[in-house]
Amino acid sequence: MAETEQENQTEITEFQLLGFVGLGDLQIPLFCLILVIYLVTMVGNILIILLVVTDPHLHTPMYFFLGNLSCLETCYSSNILPMMLANLLHGGRRTISVTGCMIQYNFFGLLAASECFLLAAMSYDRYLAICKPLHYTTLMNDRVCLQLIAGSWISGLVLMTIVLYLMQQLKFCGLGEINHFFCEFNPILKLACSDTHLIELVSLLFSVLCILFPLFLTLASYIVIISTIMRMASVSGRKKAFSTCSSHLMVVSIFYGTMMIVYILPKTDRLRNINKVLSLFYTILTPLFNPLIYSLRNREVKEAHRRAVAKLYKTEKVHCCNLL
Ligand SMILES: *[C@@H]1O[C@H](CO)[C@@H](O)[C@H](O)[C@H]1NC(C)=O
Repeated sequence: MAETEQENQTEITEFQLLGFVGLGDLQIPLFCLILVIYLVTMVGNILIILLVVTDPHLHTPMYFFLGNLSCLETCYSSNILPMMLANLLHGGRRTISVTGCMIQYNFFGLLAASECFLLAAMSYDRYLAICKPLHYTTLMNDRVCLQLIAGSWISGLVLMTIVLYLMQQLKFCGLGEINHFFCEFNPILKLACSDTHLIELVSLLFSVLCILFPLFLTLASYIVIISTIMRMASVSGRKKAFSTCSSHLMVVSIFYGTMMIVYILPKTDRLRNINKVLSLFYTILTPLFNPLIYSLRNREVKEAHRRAVAKLYKTEKVHCCNLL
């Protein structure tokens, strides 16, 4: 009895990720699916970054925000998906050091928090463009744009540094099994055998700050935007105004929609597996859909794609001629 107590209290330095245990034959198809998703996500986001950086037509605040969002999302996917792919190939449980796990969770949190703030900044930008069109260029100048973008990154960084500090004080004992496919907050905390009240309180506070506050700003911006658009006299003006914010509205809806589903569902044991699958959505789908939505729906991004291809084609032709 005393011995098992002793064993239970021994501090562990490794966790076991159980993410895909018991998938059986599904492992290979799932691996292929996630690999394709990862590649499309990377190519799409990197393409957007290249377009925003190289095409002078896209040197406006709206596209700087978009470029930065794509930067965020390439990091976000690369933090989670390669490890998920390795787990799937490996099959079954996989060990990860406690430090490695914390680093992964903290990158995840940093990027997710920054993304929430950046999405809010983007809706504020759309609000200014549509509701204050005459003052847009003075209100959203390069300095304000840079401040909003830097502010998003820095707020995420500060909040996650505090969480990382608190996490490092925790002691972990027991089997160290994490029933998830990456190091998420709640599964990690369950394994702690020291007091977790403080970190739970802080994380609750931070989720309100990182999720609800930007969500509130985003919703408020869109309520004003939509009511302004409704009041516009001309149909073509309405269409034009709506087309400049519809892509962003779709991205925001996917991001918060999938996240809400995961957080609102009760955390019972029976739902845990469903939850695991649903959290695939907000870790995978937003970075995948963001470049697709903008590339397929946004006229200026479509034109930038066309210009880039035309330029590439032209330089190739020049090369060929030079070679001949
Ligand atoms: C990110 O934002 C900054 C500040 O506005 C901008 O200069 C930079 O080009 C953006 N990065 C990308 C990849 O769009």
